[in-house]
Amino acid sequence: MKKYFVIGNPINHSLSPKLHNYWLKENNIDAIYDKKKIDEKDLQTTISEVKEKKTEGINVTVPFKKSVIPYLDKLSPAAEQTQSVNTIILTDDILVGHNTDIFGFTQAIKDLNFNIKGKKILILGAGGVVPSIIFALNKMNVSKIFISNRTKEKAEDLKSQFYNLEVLDWGDINDFDVIINATSLGLNNESINLDFSKLANNKLFYDVIYNPEETNFLKEGKKLGNRTENGKLMFVYQAFEAFKLWHGIEPLINSDTLKILNND
Ligand code: ATR
Repeated sequence: MKKYFVIGNPINHSLSPKLHNYWLKENNIDAIYDKKKIDEKDLQTTISEVKEKKTEGINVTVPFKKSVIPYLDKLSPAAEQTQSVNTIILTDDILVGHNTDIFGFTQAIKDLNFNIKGKKILILGAGGVVPSIIFALNKMNVSKIFISNRTKEKAEDLKSQFYNLEVLDWGDINDFDVIINATSLGLNNESINLDFSKLANNKLFYDVIYNPEETNFLKEGKKLGNRTENGKLMFVYQAFEAFKLWHGIEPLINSDTLKILNND
């Protein structure tokens, strides 16, 4: 039986096994998808399992999307540009790192029927998933991307990859069309203690977090009269693209797929 898994730390919250195992079964593929909590020191041995064909593929989540890179032979162009890998596959005996988060975010925004072209965007956070979001937003021709992170240097560092970014002080919230929470605040029901009331209403509040379904950030956005969206579809579409890379099949996404991701 073929084996796949997702690595991260923490990993408990990951719904990847649920989704991939559902699709594996639906497509009659004899394989299993698991999750593994690992430490940085275990990265090399864990990834070498793919090269040794003990494992067919690995998904990578926080905080290893960048630190896996030295252990791979090759990166896809998007993974190279974002320095972020979330899917590993062995192709012709070459260990390749892909980035399917970009597709995930792009497709999720497309599904919203929200015309993001020409819009002013504010990203909160500068962690692992942010380069993929910036890459995707640039491709979607937004007018300007601002970024604000508690640790300002981390936001500044991203400017070497994305020259058109503008870094703001933490909490410097002015008028944006779209505000994206890419911090980890909300995973455990925390609030982001920032004042969003200066934004006019009818904006888009987007949270990368999908579990819980409605973070305090989204609750507040809604209360202030804005459109809100969580990261569930981004998650589903990044998994869709990884599944396609590994199995050569486009898995079905419908209301049943989304239902299996609901909290038990
Ligand atoms: P990593 O930084 O390891 O990639 P991540 O979960 O992708 O991990 O990123 C966490 C993000 O949430 C970071 O932008 C982090 O800000 P710092 O760079 O200042 O650490 C942000 N974050 C986490 N806790 C926060 C808090 N209490 N207040 C503000 N931002 C916070």
